[in-house]
Amino acid sequence: MITLQEAVLQRHSVRNYKDKKIEEEKIALIREKISELNKEGDLNLHFSDDAGKTFRSFLSRMSGLGSAPSAIICSGPDSEDLEERVGYYGEQLVLYIQQLGLNSCWVGMFSRKQAEKLMPVENGERTVIAIAVGYGETQGKERKTKSFEEVAEMPEGTEAPNWFREGVKAALLAPTAINQQKFTIRLKEDETVEFIDNGGVFSRVDLGIVKCHFKIGSGYKVL
Ligand SMILES: Cc1cc2nc3c(=O)[nH]c(=O)nc-3n(C[C@H](O)[C@H](O)[C@H](O)COP(=O)(O)O)c2cc1C
Repeated sequence: MITLQEAVLQRHSVRNYKDKKIEEEKIALIREKISELNKEGDLNLHFSDDAGKTFRSFLSRMSGLGSAPSAIICSGPDSEDLEERVGYYGEQLVLYIQQLGLNSCWVGMFSRKQAEKLMPVENGERTVIAIAVGYGETQGKERKTKSFEEVAEMPEGTEAPNWFREGVKAALLAPTAINQQKFTIRLKEDETVEFIDNGGVFSRVDLGIVKCHFKIGSGYKVL
């Protein structure tokens, strides 16, 4: 199996999928991982083997994800940091899916109504986003990215240590909604790191995803 660092490098959003079901063994592994992440992150991520119902609505046809055979619906007990936790733990799942040789795409634009038919949300829970999963027609492709200087801040007159550079490098490979990359990663005098959300659609989910990548790149304890 490829390492998490390799998964960070190889992952790209994939929007067109082969008409091929995911093997039962892989589904079992994904379900196992989901149950670990749900416990750790106090979430209710849910694997659905029938993404057709989730995505084949008018809106999803616009985003072109109707071919995905499976999906993960990301819900959890409502709280102020729900979006960020969905991003942080959901991206661990996305990278695990990459390690299993599958492809994926975060999907903000899908029918919540359809998704909640597949996975009714309990009282006090909220559905935030979904993740399409399957065997891609391609592995996706590299896209434009901001530079280190555009997203990183250091105390004046200081050089960034290597671990911080590696963290930012991995964070720049993180998926963000419409590739907006509206975040700042600030290294402080005391060598702690601050993550700043500069707004935009789904930017709280983005921030959680960015933290997940920064941790993998740098080894810095994020949460
Ligand atoms: C929170 C979030 C929501 C997204 N929503 C959609 C979506 O609705 N439709 C879509 O095609 N891609 C969606 N994406 C995928 C982004 O467009 C993609 O991650 C970004 O362009 C960067 O490309 P990459 O993932 O290949 O690195 C979403 C990504 C994130 C993180």
